[in-house]
Amino acid sequence: MTDTGIAVVTGAGRGLGQATSLALAQRGYRVVVAARSSDAAQATVDQITGVGGEAIPLVLDIAAIASIRAARDRLLPMLAETWPGSRIQVLVNNAGVGHFAPLDEVTGDDFDDTFAVNVRGPLFLIQAFAPHLADGARVVSLSSSLSRHVSPATAVYAASKAAVEAMSRSLAPELGRRGIRINTIAPGPTATDFNGGAMRDNTELRLGLGQQTALGRVGEPTEIADAVAALVSEDLRWVTGERIEVSGGVLM
Ligand SMILES: NC(=O)c1ccc[n+]([C@@H]2O[C@H](COP(=O)([O-])OP(=O)(O)OC[C@H]3O[C@@H](n4cnc5c(N)ncnc54)[C@H](OP(=O)(O)O)[C@@H]3O)[C@@H](O)[C@H]2O)c1
Repeated sequence: MTDTGIAVVTGAGRGLGQATSLALAQRGYRVVVAARSSDAAQATVDQITGVGGEAIPLVLDIAAIASIRAARDRLLPMLAETWPGSRIQVLVNNAGVGHFAPLDEVTGDDFDDTFAVNVRGPLFLIQAFAPHLADGARVVSLSSSLSRHVSPATAVYAASKAAVEAMSRSLAPELGRRGIRINTIAPGPTATDFNGGAMRDNTELRLGLGQQTALGRVGEPTEIADAVAALVSEDLRWVTGERIEVSGGVLM
C-alpha cells in the first residue's frame, strides 16, 4: 500500500472514529488509533492490520490536557521507530460526548464534561500536535448538524459543536501559513453507540429522524468516514476553514 503519511484519529475504538481509521487505512495512511482504553485501541488496530493496513494504538483521554501531552510525548519516539521518515499528515478530532437534557435538567458536570471533551480536548490536541504536523497536513474536527438546526434538549451539545466550528475557522489562517488545512465535518444522525445507540437501536427514533432527511434515512458510520477521507484528500486541497455537513440533507 502507498504510504500517504500518518493519520491520528481520536475516539477511534468504536463508532465514527473506528470507521474513519479504517477508511484512512484503506487509502494507505498509517493510522494512530487513539482511544481511552488500550483494548479499544487494539481492537481497531487489529481490524486495520487484518485487512492489510498499518496501525498502532495510543491511549489518550482527550478530556485531560496532561493526557494529551503525555500521549504526544510517548507517540513521537514510537513513530520515529515504527515508521521512520513518515510524517503526520492528518489529525482527526473525532472523540465526543453528548449529554442531552432540557434546560432545567442541565447539570454543571454535564456542561463541563461536554466542553472538556468536545472543545477543550480538540483545541489542546491541535496545539500539542501542530509543531509535529507536516506542512500541508489536514486537521478535521467532528461537529454536528445540531450546530445548524434545533432540536429540544440539545443546548449544551449544540453549543459545544458550534464552538468547535468557530475554533476551526479561527485556526485556519494560523495553520494556513504552513499550508495546513483545517475543517469540520458535521454529521447528521448516524447509527453508532452515540446517545446510547438511539439512532441505531431505537426503531421509532431512527425512522423518525430518517424522515427528516432528504435521503430518507439516518447515516451509516462509513458514510461519515468516507467524507472525512475525501476532505483530507488532494481533491479538496483548496478547502479550509469550512464546515461541511454530511447528513443526507437533514432538516434543510
Ligand atoms: N453518531 C451521530 O449521530 C453523530 C452526529 C453528529 C456528530 N457526531 C459526533 O461524531 C463523533 C463520534 O461520534 P460517534 O457517533 O462515533 O459516538 P460514539 O459511538 O458514542 O463514540 C464516541 C467516541 O468518543 C470517545 N470518547 C469519549 N470521551 C472521550 C475521552 N474523554 N477521551 C477519549 N475519547 C473519548 C469514545 O471513547 P470510549 O469508547 O472510551 O468511550 C468513543 O470512541 C463525536 O464527536 C460526536 O459528537 C455523531
